[in-house]
Amino acid sequence: MSVIERLIKPHLVKINTYKSVDPPELLAAKAGIPLDTIIKLNGNENPKEPSDQIKQAVASAAFNIYPDPLQRSVRSALSKYTDMPSDYIIASAGSDELIDLLFRLFISEGDKILDFEPTFAMYGFCARVAGGSVTMAPRDDNFDIDIKSAINAIDEKTKIIFLSSPNNPTGNTADREQIEELLKTDLLVVVDEAYFEFCNKTVVDLIPKYQNLVVLRTMSKWAGLAGLRIGYGIMSPELVNHIIDIKSPYNLSVTSEAALIAALNEAGSLMAEVKKIVRERERMYKLLQSIDGIELFPSEGNFILCGFAEGKVDDVYQGLANQGIFVRKFDSPRLSNHFRISVGKPHQTDRLISVIKELV
Ligand SMILES: Cc1ncc(COP(=O)(O)O)c(C=O)c1O
Repeated sequence: MSVIERLIKPHLVKINTYKSVDPPELLAAKAGIPLDTIIKLNGNENPKEPSDQIKQAVASAAFNIYPDPLQRSVRSALSKYTDMPSDYIIASAGSDELIDLLFRLFISEGDKILDFEPTFAMYGFCARVAGGSVTMAPRDDNFDIDIKSAINAIDEKTKIIFLSSPNNPTGNTADREQIEELLKTDLLVVVDEAYFEFCNKTVVDLIPKYQNLVVLRTMSKWAGLAGLRIGYGIMSPELVNHIIDIKSPYNLSVTSEAALIAALNEAGSLMAEVKKIVRERERMYKLLQSIDGIELFPSEGNFILCGFAEGKVDDVYQGLANQGIFVRKFDSPRLSNHFRISVGKPHQTDRLISVIKELV
């Protein structure tokens, strides 16, 4: 055992880490094709480049000065956007950071979270890092959650219920009534609305009624700022203050702050792009539907989950990668015959479809 391994927390020595996607340069090198010809549909990113105004705001941010630890201007801009008072809002370096902060605040070794598999892998990953464990509540054949079995799976160690709606990677949303049933357990219920702008379904209005509700949002998807890492949460002011107490003081960079404010100033045109992405998703869905041998799941996000016959998915996945088209595969046993395709630009959809047709 090395010195490091002897000193490190035992549960972190051989942790099952988060499987992230490779950066575009590496994907291009692996496929042996130029960077500008790859089609990256594996990160649910926004295909639209940021506007000149956003780029200008980032370029003119005062890099030599630390950002405001209390994020006053950011929280006030988000307050206008979400229609919630700014003391209900806290921003973070991507919603990933906020998920991690919730674990730091609530989960000690031995505690549990309730998770609806298959779902976004960060919840399980953060639980493992915190030394907690995950209770998996089942989803049905359409990946809808089952409240009865979820509630039965709760015990005295369970502290947080995580629910992604729309769910990544299955694309379906949870019902408001189901979420209210979960809230009645009095555990912390985190509803991850990373894809809210693509479906316009939210439970933010329930926050004043339920102190145990947290809604997570991000600027990565609808606003196209994934690389700048900007997320936020809406929750009771009491919980916001506890997060402020434990977060690193300067968790948002001045460039992230500037980009967020500039993006919210042009929310109207960004939403027009979101509408285009939704239309493109529907077009891609129909085109995929016309190919035999693919099972499709309706999506309310900017991605579509595809299922294949036993033993087929790796060939299609690799065949696409060889041609420079990258989609997302998963570790989850329920998704061993599936991959997820993010919605890109129309010409990327056309190329994807013609390569899939050759492969299937
Ligand atoms: C459901 C869900 N939540 C959170 C995130 C992370 O978002 P961010 O880029 O804000 O960390 C993602 C990203 O894919 C996601 O799918």
